[in-house]
Amino acid sequence: MKLITDIEEMQAFSNHARKMGKSIAFVPTMGCLHDGHASLLKKGKELGDILVMSIFVNPIQFGPREDYASYPRDLKRDLAIAEANKVDVVFNPAAEVMYAQGFQTYVDVAYLSKHLCGLSRPGYFKGVATVVAKLFTIVKAQIAIFGEKDYQQHLIIKKMVKDLNMDVDVVGMPIVREINGLAMSSRNNYLNNDERKAALCLYTALMKGKELFENDIKESGIILQEMRSIIEAEPLAVIDYINVCDINTLEDLDKIQDTALLALAVKIGKARLIDNCILG
Ligand code: PAJ
Repeated sequence: MKLITDIEEMQAFSNHARKMGKSIAFVPTMGCLHDGHASLLKKGKELGDILVMSIFVNPIQFGPREDYASYPRDLKRDLAIAEANKVDVVFNPAAEVMYAQGFQTYVDVAYLSKHLCGLSRPGYFKGVATVVAKLFTIVKAQIAIFGEKDYQQHLIIKKMVKDLNMDVDVVGMPIVREINGLAMSSRNNYLNNDERKAALCLYTALMKGKELFENDIKESGIILQEMRSIIEAEPLAVIDYINVCDINTLEDLDKIQDTALLALAVKIGKARLIDNCILG
């Protein structure tokens, strides 16, 4: 496995691989790897001849009061996991390399970024779309794999690729959960034992929403009220949002026709956790 920190070196590697007729699959991450990331790597290994993973905690997707400085970083552990998952190249640039002095070009997927996490984290998706656009230009992969845990992010990246005619296939992978239902996340590292137990309320609420929908309750108001009461019963949980929305536009739905996205963000202690579930 190769570790590359230099942008030109990464581009040269990819140019050479493509010239040799190899396809490149790419998994962008911020490190602190877990089995959710590993599922993307496994898919990448299946889909491409060469598997590239980036580890880059992207400063421009964190707000001024968010956890950029304290975001968990453990390169040694991540490299061991990458190796075990047969990654060919880890791209791990420094922040000053990605954002040289005078950097001023951003990608804004305007409307999809105005919903859900975009409302509570202004500028977040602009930071995500910009870094992913840069990484795509650097890594030159034909295939990129994203997790549906970050449903809105996945949708935004697909839209960016379409709108900017980027030559990359974006593949989505299902949410990987712990046995008790908690969606795996690097931010679960912030949780103590009590908070970990409390964090189960996200999944319980989603499952309640799903059960209601499957029992023919289609009014979002009723579903949201039931979900909200599950989370409000958990003293350590503070709701950021719970929404029932259109799976493509992310607009709120008053009534569900065939399908909808149930999405929520909840703060438990220091951790802001997100989760979602598709109905129908
Ligand atoms: P990060 O949170 O490290 O996630 C990297 C990828 O792993 C994302 O596509 C995310 O959706 C996926 N992922 C995380 N937890 C998952 C789980 N439990 N099941 C399945 N997939 C999961 O998302 C980012 O980093 C950044 O925003 C990034 C795209 C790298 C841009 O900086």
